[in-house]
Amino acid sequence: MDHFQIRNGEMHVEGIALSAIADAVGTPAYVYSTATLERHVQVFRDALAGLDDPLIAFAVKANPNGAVLATLARAGLGADVVSSGEILRARAAGIPPERIIFSGVGKTAEEMRLAIEIGVGQFNLESEPEAEMLSRVAADMGRTVAVAYRINPDVDAGTHAKISTGKSNNKFGIPYAGAVDAYARAAALPGLQIRGVAVHIGSQLTDLAPLEAAFARLGALIETLRAAGHAITVADLGGGLGVPYDPALPVPPSPADYGAMVKRVTAGWNVRLIFEPGRVIVGNAGVLLSSVIRVKQGEAHPFVIVDAAMNDLLRPSLYEAWHDIRSIRPTGRRVVVNVVGPVCESGDTFATARDMDSVAAGDRVAFMTAGAYGATMASTYNSRALTAEVLVSGDKWAVVRAREPIEALIARDKLPDWLG
Ligand code: LLP
Repeated sequence: MDHFQIRNGEMHVEGIALSAIADAVGTPAYVYSTATLERHVQVFRDALAGLDDPLIAFAVKANPNGAVLATLARAGLGADVVSSGEILRARAAGIPPERIIFSGVGKTAEEMRLAIEIGVGQFNLESEPEAEMLSRVAADMGRTVAVAYRINPDVDAGTHAKISTGKSNNKFGIPYAGAVDAYARAAALPGLQIRGVAVHIGSQLTDLAPLEAAFARLGALIETLRAAGHAITVADLGGGLGVPYDPALPVPPSPADYGAMVKRVTAGWNVRLIFEPGRVIVGNAGVLLSSVIRVKQGEAHPFVIVDAAMNDLLRPSLYEAWHDIRSIRPTGRRVVVNVVGPVCESGDTFATARDMDSVAAGDRVAFMTAGAYGATMASTYNSRALTAEVLVSGDKWAVVRAREPIEALIARDKLPDWLG
């Protein structure tokens, strides 16, 4: 359930009409719902009830907005981060360092140093050269850091190829077959304290079977590693649970289904479990609010040209992702149209032959389920300023990221002296 509902003919976010936000801050703008964020945290937590003190580390990449992170920090979440920028954002939002998990295949020595200074709770290592680098950095600083290897379980997540991460040909993790040797070598390195295992096989998973297969492999590895003398006290099960985008498709497994599967598979592991959900926490908690610029005749269908574009919401052009597009003042009339942005590429298409609410120039539409991997993947392509972001809580709302003035973007370019 979310808190984006039609009342008095108008889509509201909690107690606020989206039209009021559009009038005040303009479009395009991302709008997030606090109640939905809090509800998703609660649903995920409830799904894990019965586990011993699980750590829910929100995948910051899904939505790094400071106010969103602060909302999640207040709800007690930790953070899964993949860059020094994300570490700093998580800390700025009040997430305690020990609840921060540092993932990613390309951590630099500088990022490792920052993470150690800040005191992040765990490093998830993705290769042996990375373990060696972290060992050198930690030992230089006279510190010992807790680590897990991310295991590549060679499982097909069954999701879009660009967001699949658990096959042996993907760049992620260390091969399952070589894990025992890799742990033995890491155990001999100074500055590292081996504490666990980690896995993450992909995103927008709509079937629990691949996750279960990956977790089962992890469970077997824990036993082998313990037999080899390693003290494995933590298992990080990653993120990946899908959310409903297209109401015509089967509903993905719920957090409760996921939690039940996890409890069944991990029974007897005797570890603290870490989870790294991103999309399932923020996806349905945000919309991208946009205005129709004009409707243009098309060969097969009219083109509805909106003021949001692929630079604001990249998912449809990058992954052929489907986002529901609704009028914020639906009349009940329906049309079949192509929805496109103003950017000069045919890839700037949000929907083709879409059956949707009838809209005309000046009307506002909401791209649903845009809270995850929306604003965070935006660019300034076509010299389009980054959008505003708004957070609603009950009948209050606030701009939580100002629309970037285009002048600021231009002023960042500097002329070399020979052109000045
Ligand atoms: N943990 C790790 C190590 C990850 O790489 C990711 C996502 C997550 C957790 C969170 O996954 P989630 O629960 O959100 O599925 N931009 C793409 C999604 C990329 C996901 C990258 N990694 C999209 O828009 O669909």
